[in-house]
Amino acid sequence: MNYKEEIEKLKKEKKAVILAHYYVSGDIQDIADVIGDSLALAQASKKLDAEIILFCGVHFMAETAKILNPKAKVIIPDFNAGCSLADSAPIDKFIQFKKQHPEAIVVSYINCSAEVKAESDYICTSSNAVEVVNAISMDKEIIFAPDKHLGRYVEKMTNRKMHIWDGSCIVHNNISQEKLNQLMNQHKDALLISHPECPEEIIEKSDFVGSTKALLDFVKKSTQQKFIVATEAGILYKMKKEAPGKIIIAAPSHENNTCACSECPYMKMNTLEKVYKALLSESPTIHINQQVEAAALRALNNMLSIN
Ligand code: 13P
Ligand code: SF4
Repeated sequence: MNYKEEIEKLKKEKKAVILAHYYVSGDIQDIADVIGDSLALAQASKKLDAEIILFCGVHFMAETAKILNPKAKVIIPDFNAGCSLADSAPIDKFIQFKKQHPEAIVVSYINCSAEVKAESDYICTSSNAVEVVNAISMDKEIIFAPDKHLGRYVEKMTNRKMHIWDGSCIVHNNISQEKLNQLMNQHKDALLISHPECPEEIIEKSDFVGSTKALLDFVKKSTQQKFIVATEAGILYKMKKEAPGKIIIAAPSHENNTCACSECPYMKMNTLEKVYKALLSESPTIHINQQVEAAALRALNNMLSIN
């Protein structure tokens, strides 16, 4: 079966819109109507006038789309496409953590469950975390969850201490320092650019730090020719497309995987076959408890109003 053709037909028939994160594979990016980072996809979800949103990313992203666009039926190709960061903050433990800092304003990275969003005052993404924290009055304590590396980076950029949850992303944590140093020695003319979910040692030696969209824009605009990119390798597809001629190398992971790059196993659960089947059956769908949805929407809107 030609999945691409069949997906295009179903999209028209069902008035469906496909959103995809930069980390999904290239063949899925090719059939998407909107490709973006977490912030751009949240903003797009809110504005869409579609009966069906098919979200090619991970579960928390599809949940966010449902919260921002409750009228749409939001479907996801694989319900098991989770996120190690979101999983690192179970709601009961998160509520306990909040109790330890009762006066604190809660800023949660968008990579968390709808329940954690509902317990937060603000959501942020890697594009706007510094801006969101800067919007909070200096006399307030802040809880930042769930990514400790992004939290530490934000502390440094805003010059303020926060109560940081001890979570991290398996993909960014798994970038091998040793192999990265070897790669940098082999390519002394390359710039190292990294996502703020990377551990501090990588951030410290980076020439540029930013969200996936910021990394893409940096490669496109830079006068340099060669880049080592420390984030999930899916972004390289778009970089190579939009910055032809530039040499773009993925940062290596500890694993001896075939491509020797860093791949998110959850993002890679999205396949063309699953996209086709999800569109055909209009499932699996995202459902959120109404109270949770309302509280999570307030925290998301607090972020979007800053942007
Ligand atoms: P951004 O989309 O904000 O770059 O974050 C990447 C990510 O972790 C998605 O899981
Ligand atoms: Fe979660 Fe990391 Fe995968 Fe992003 S790359 S979805 S943060 S596990």
